[in-house]
Amino acid sequence: RFSVEGLGDAELSGATAVVIDVLRATTSMVQALASGAKAIYPTASTEEAVKLLQSIGRDDTLLCGERRTRRIEGYHLGNSPSEFTAEVVAGKRLIMNTTNGTRAFLAAESADRVIAAAFNNLGAVTVAVAGVERLVIACAGRSGAFALEDTLCAGHLIRRLRAAGTDPLILTDGAIAAEALADAFPVGDTLASTAAGRDLAEAGLGDDVADCARFDVHSVVPELDDRVIRLPHGG
Ligand code: MLT
Repeated sequence: RFSVEGLGDAELSGATAVVIDVLRATTSMVQALASGAKAIYPTASTEEAVKLLQSIGRDDTLLCGERRTRRIEGYHLGNSPSEFTAEVVAGKRLIMNTTNGTRAFLAAESADRVIAAAFNNLGAVTVAVAGVERLVIACAGRSGAFALEDTLCAGHLIRRLRAAGTDPLILTDGAIAAEALADAFPVGDTLASTAAGRDLAEAGLGDDVADCARFDVHSVVPELDDRVIRLPHGG
């Protein structure tokens, strides 16, 4: 059974959860881990992030995140995927705090497995979840509201699972709607036209939207384990 949910709606216990925040949290996480970051600590507030940095107390740790698309004051990095290059993040731990995306991971914590997905790693995620019995695709959205880009990505994941012959594919109404969106909306143009896409363009971050619209750039499947997102088995 495959469902697409907003946060808080889903029964997560016993399920595999795929968390999606295309613009830009999960895209940046995928980029960071593909660039060799050791671990990402998702946090729910700037206070929690700073406290965690103090308690970890290590100089290989970077604070990253955004408020209203901009880097948070005093943080090392913002939330543009292009900031997470190997030169900057390889071997580093990242404490991340974003408006919706990092909170979505903490909200999905009670699932058996919690995986980060974006267009950038969709093929690898498809392979990773193809056999699961109950999949909940948790769309981060925006402040609890629907975000087209996340549901569109969910729809593409379902489409790929169907193409891979996943059977039985029993879809909730949300999942049926997501798949229909994937059939109807071209990814690149649609991402640019969403509220998040427009806000990023207005902030001069239009290139981020294009980066987030790219399919299968990376083959990593980040997974949350004990409040830390990393690549299982280090790769
Ligand atoms: C979020 O977590 O809300 C997003 O990733 C926002 C952003 O990157 O601008």
